[in-house]
Amino acid sequence: MTTVAVKEEWKSGTQLTLSDYNSWYAASVNDPEGFWREHGKRLDWIKPYTKVKNTSFAPGNVSIKWFEDGTLNLSANCLDRHLTERGDQTAILWEGDNPEESRAISYKELHGDVCRMANVLKDLGVGRGERVSIYMPMIPEAAVAMLACARIGAVHSVVFGGFSPDALAGRMEGSGSKVLVTADEGLRAGRKVPLKANADKAVEIAAKAGHTVEKVLVVKRTGGEIAWAEGRDHWWHEARERVSAECEPEEMSAEDPLFILYTSGSTGKPKGVLHTTGGYLVWASMTQQYVFDMRAGEVFWCTADVGWVTGHSYTVYGPLANGGTTLMFEGVPNYPDAGRFWQVVDKHSVNVIYTAPTAIRALMGAGDEFVTKSSRRSLRLLGSVGEPINPEAWNWYYRVVGEERCPIVDTWWQTETGGILITPLPGAIDLKPGSATRPFFGVKPELVDGEGKVLEGATEGNLCITDSWPGQMRTVFGDHERFEQTYFSTYPNKYFTGDGARRDADGYWWITGRVDDVINVSGHRMGTAEVESALVSHPKVSEAAVVGYPHDVKGQGIYCYVTLMEGETPSEELKKELVAHVRGEIGPIASPDKIQFSPGLPKTRSGKIMRRILRKIAEDDFGALGDTSTLADPAVVDDLIDNRQNRK
Ligand code: PRX
Repeated sequence: MTTVAVKEEWKSGTQLTLSDYNSWYAASVNDPEGFWREHGKRLDWIKPYTKVKNTSFAPGNVSIKWFEDGTLNLSANCLDRHLTERGDQTAILWEGDNPEESRAISYKELHGDVCRMANVLKDLGVGRGERVSIYMPMIPEAAVAMLACARIGAVHSVVFGGFSPDALAGRMEGSGSKVLVTADEGLRAGRKVPLKANADKAVEIAAKAGHTVEKVLVVKRTGGEIAWAEGRDHWWHEARERVSAECEPEEMSAEDPLFILYTSGSTGKPKGVLHTTGGYLVWASMTQQYVFDMRAGEVFWCTADVGWVTGHSYTVYGPLANGGTTLMFEGVPNYPDAGRFWQVVDKHSVNVIYTAPTAIRALMGAGDEFVTKSSRRSLRLLGSVGEPINPEAWNWYYRVVGEERCPIVDTWWQTETGGILITPLPGAIDLKPGSATRPFFGVKPELVDGEGKVLEGATEGNLCITDSWPGQMRTVFGDHERFEQTYFSTYPNKYFTGDGARRDADGYWWITGRVDDVINVSGHRMGTAEVESALVSHPKVSEAAVVGYPHDVKGQGIYCYVTLMEGETPSEELKKELVAHVRGEIGPIASPDKIQFSPGLPKTRSGKIMRRILRKIAEDDFGALGDTSTLADPAVVDDLIDNRQNRK
């Protein structure tokens, strides 16, 4: 694949050059203490830190602390400190699902809204360290709620609005949230999403499990009919009138928890990834500045929903910490038509767009005309995140969308990492389509083989990070042992990412995808175990095994092998019923793409399902099944293959 060398016009004079990158990187890994002592100063601290790095990946003693004796408030860093210089500048530019609707909210207005919401949350009984769940559509009030929590030292747990009542209930219970912020309904592609109705169900489900959600704060978005629990439910537009537009920010320690965000792993229920205040914000703001070569007065658009980490770090916190203008989009890429992204770009003169390969592939499939009929002159940088970007999609993004004017930053990171870890810096690092290129400052990636042996040179292996960086997650909420077990036990003294990667002869990094039982569906991370447990909770299902398979638009699709209870008959109807069941248990993002009824599953003699074989069959790669001799019943595999071939 050809390299796209840095072009002269990508160099702005404000960003780093290749030699800056090299010297900064060297300093960051040779003297992390000194490097971060300096760069931590990008935030406004109430009490400056004297300690910088205090981290250990040692087995049984994993502990991560950055800037631990410093104090600050995150919302003051995102709002108050900008008021004198840019109080009237737009902080949030909101574009509705309906192309006729948009709003511009200045830093002053956002500050007032956040203070009011902070006061309302206090009136509802929320104190420092307490958790608040946020289940919202992509409207400015979602960001207001997050910042309001940060202002009073509460810990937010944002739950993606596409998750089911069950999923929301589990997350409210898990985080111990007594207060929930939601909206009457969301709007996506002209359709209403019944958020409050889902929230009502979730509160009921949580109550049955012994967890009481005491207060629900409801933002009016559509004005649709909703049920109302007197005493428990409160309208935001009413409550805000009763409180002051001033709220003193709480002085928080750098290591006080900021948010919990649930994410899927290879086993068990989703984990509550916990991020803290100081290190996280240093990381979000610094990566936002350098990776996107942020420039004053520009409009930055990260298309991710605030329900995901990308929405936390690059729709809300990074851009606002840096005093930028962030665009928040309520809708979807193909509504009213597949030209929507580029209409929004032109309407708001967007300078940087940051989106996912799945969106790029879907728009690519809709044809170039939707793109070429827009101007896109304002665009100068294109970002990609969430899954590997195939070179074909990269090239289309580069040539058709960016007209070869705009560099692409393919950024690799995870919910756990808080922000971007491997990425090009535009104007500094030559690009290779499909490669996330080089590590950001302070990031020490390493490849190891299955036994943990460190691999040198141009090679492929399991991707680990050998030292801590400020944005790293600190623990799994309420379960530090699970944190150590999940990330630090496979390869002792290293953080294991769960991804595979290749390093080429130029030292460029190519992420090849997950090496565990996590799949990436349209950039959404999904544990196959979660889908399996949703399937087996259906009364007609006795057993299920779920794997990913290559999907043209989604990256990976969800392939389910389902064994029915004795006496049940496979049918197309039943498939539909199972799809609906999984959507109800988890949410539409977990909809199975393919279901294969399988009287038997390939198991070892000890009863372990051999997923490797199931993956190969789902990929139609029947010749490469590997060793099947350890199976309890090798004939099962032939049945599965016959079945797969007959049903295609
Ligand atoms: O497999 C990697 C993939 O997404 C996973 C992390 O998912 P999540 O925690 O939901 O965060 C997504 C947004 C940061 C990773 O383990 N991934 C993310 N970015 C890339 C990627 N794979 C390849 N290239 C990327 N740029």
